[in-house]
Amino acid sequence: MKVTVVGAGAVGATCADNIVRREIAEELVLVDIKEGFAEGKALDLTQTASLLGFNTRITGVTGDYSKTAGSAVCVITSGIPRKPGMTREELIGTNAKIVENVAKSLLEYSPNAIIVVISNPMDTMTYLALKATGLPKNRVIGMGGILDSARFKTYLQKALDCSQSDLHATVIGGHGDTTMIPLTRLATLNGTPVSNFLSEDQLKQVAADTMVGGATLTKLLGTSAWYAPGAAGAALVESIVRNQKKVFPCCVALDGEYGQKDICLGVPVVIGSNGWEKIIDYKLNDAEQAEFNKSAEAVRNMNAVLDTL
Ligand code: 2OP
Repeated sequence: MKVTVVGAGAVGATCADNIVRREIAEELVLVDIKEGFAEGKALDLTQTASLLGFNTRITGVTGDYSKTAGSAVCVITSGIPRKPGMTREELIGTNAKIVENVAKSLLEYSPNAIIVVISNPMDTMTYLALKATGLPKNRVIGMGGILDSARFKTYLQKALDCSQSDLHATVIGGHGDTTMIPLTRLATLNGTPVSNFLSEDQLKQVAADTMVGGATLTKLLGTSAWYAPGAAGAALVESIVRNQKKVFPCCVALDGEYGQKDICLGVPVVIGSNGWEKIIDYKLNDAEQAEFNKSAEAVRNMNAVLDTL
């Protein structure tokens, strides 16, 4: 199985690192536009093979998409990351053209690939990739909710002083500071609602910290994060390549599910070898549905900007 990661920056390279060290793919191709950069990252990663004990073959290329031919999964991380104080939405003008060109170039050589979009603003970039390529909807997946859910679990762990592996917690909606919806009502510690252990105020704080989880890191690091985004991207690729049928919150095209249509937004889906295979209905209560509708409205406004570019 061959996997391509486009963009050898921090998120792309970390995603690639996670894929190769766990042998999720037999072959990994890293693409970047900066001359020699992907080649350098690929060589550096290859030099970890004997240390970490993996056999995945890694190739780095500068813009040569012919080398990506026959990829089963292609991950798009290209574009500029945000700087402190910026929202993900401010990146739209620059990243839209990049993501569209990259998606089309990938499909020229891998017509059957499943496309994973990580570039920001992710919900709009996923919608753009779907519209620009005309692919069947199950083959275009935006990665944001897996990362946001991992951040949700991190803040829950801090509040509960527990193991993250005992937690189930999901963030749906958009991948934006004000559009994501941490589902505190449905979060559990070993199957028991976390509301049994945390007060309403504590849960509100956890949700608030989760929503600005990315912005907090951008402020600390001076640019956006990479370890968790890269690991989240690799987890998604793994569920596709190994047909694991994991339920992950991902940004997918909605056609009436969760009360929305003509939009790509984060909902729980089953991820397997066909891409996203099924949307799971978490049966939101009225307040959660109202939040979801508000999130959809904000993302829809952002999508409308695409027509003005
Ligand atoms: C983040 O939230 C990169 O959007 C990504 O860190």
